[in-house]
Amino acid sequence: MPEPLATDPYKGVRDFYPSEWARLQSVFGIIRTTLELYGYEEYNASPLERAELYEAKTSEEIVNEQTYTFEDRGGRRVTLRPEMTPTFARMVAGKRRELPFPLRWYSLPNLFRYERPQRGRLREHYQLNVDLAGLSSLHADAEIVRMAHAVLSAFGAKNQDFIIRINSRTLLTKLTEEAGLSSEGARAYIRLLDKKSKLPPEEFRASVSGLTKTDPLSFLEGGSPSVQEAKASIDQFLLLLQEAGITNAVFDPTLTRGFDYYTGMVFEVFDTNPENPRSLFGGGRYDGLVGMFGAESVPCVGFGMGDVTLLDFLETHGLLPEAHTAPELYLGTPDEGALAHALAYADTLRAQGLRVIVNLTSKPLGEQIKDAVRRGIPYFIAYGGSEESGSTVRVKTLAKSSEEEVPKDSVVEHIRR
Ligand code: HAM
Repeated sequence: MPEPLATDPYKGVRDFYPSEWARLQSVFGIIRTTLELYGYEEYNASPLERAELYEAKTSEEIVNEQTYTFEDRGGRRVTLRPEMTPTFARMVAGKRRELPFPLRWYSLPNLFRYERPQRGRLREHYQLNVDLAGLSSLHADAEIVRMAHAVLSAFGAKNQDFIIRINSRTLLTKLTEEAGLSSEGARAYIRLLDKKSKLPPEEFRASVSGLTKTDPLSFLEGGSPSVQEAKASIDQFLLLLQEAGITNAVFDPTLTRGFDYYTGMVFEVFDTNPENPRSLFGGGRYDGLVGMFGAESVPCVGFGMGDVTLLDFLETHGLLPEAHTAPELYLGTPDEGALAHALAYADTLRAQGLRVIVNLTSKPLGEQIKDAVRRGIPYFIAYGGSEESGSTVRVKTLAKSSEEEVPKDSVVEHIRR
């Protein structure tokens, strides 16, 4: 006998049984409503992309260690998208003559990264992407941070529940120039800074001194006018956010973001609860990506927010929304002859928007009630010949084991009240 097939999913990915999927969809529902209030429109694309899309300009760690790349039967190299930003840039570049700029788009794609699965990190996750293309002003940067703030606020999160860390690649670049680093050295330094929190302090300091005599961050105070200018622009940006009621944003000069394509403002959102230390969101300005597809470039700014860390956040703060997709009413049938009547009555209820299932088994009514309880369905009606000929039904509220006689045409009202 061969080994039976495993029922657990592939390592680091999730199955979503209906109640889990319903929960995720209700979270997505709140996200969609919020973004659409600000004029953001949803787009989508295939998870399959040409491998070269990521090789040109993303993060070395992602391309070398984390992509799922294979050769298709026609010899083309294909990658399962590890992030949405290159796809977004490709789509914008592909129709840049027809699209109305500034463009506000969002998406909820599943992404694939070959990572070591751990709390908050999986091999497949869903990631909200919100991006604004065609504007390079601080107001566009501020709108994107506001969208991140608006999404968490829509779930009921308060400013003290999360913190928005902000930095600027422009500032970092100027600091590395001040320290005399070449562009190659600057990139190595930024990568090092990105890993700072994961390294022992001595190791970090030793690696920095391998690159430069003076740590570029030491030029933050009293640096050249051009450093001061970049710093002032961050202060101005924080002020803009404050005016919009975002009082939980702070300047963090060590924040870098791992991707090579960021060119200006970068930010990350963290839970203030130490139980959930991962970043919830990350994003920033990337003005060079669209230009990689030839012709003129389009300035862009946006962020990505993963579902895994978001669900952890909502759970620790007691903000998970309820799912509203499970059946509300179980129509029981006392005998086989009742089925046709019950099916027809169920349709009149569905026409009023009620979610109804009808018993198709030959179990006795008592068993059908137990079945409804086990499924968590809140209401039960036994529908037979006398209900068909009469004008009322008896509606059982299963949680209370109570029963009430209700006119047949007021059942939906009774259940929804
Ligand atoms: P990222 O920082 O790689 O950015 O991912 C953004 C968010 O996605 C993270 O903060 C985290 O919540 C979630 N995330 C990333 N990897 C995983 C994983 N393996 N498991 C679970 N969650 C994960 C980007 O991807 C950029 N493309 C975002 C962006 C959009 N920048 C501009 N526009």
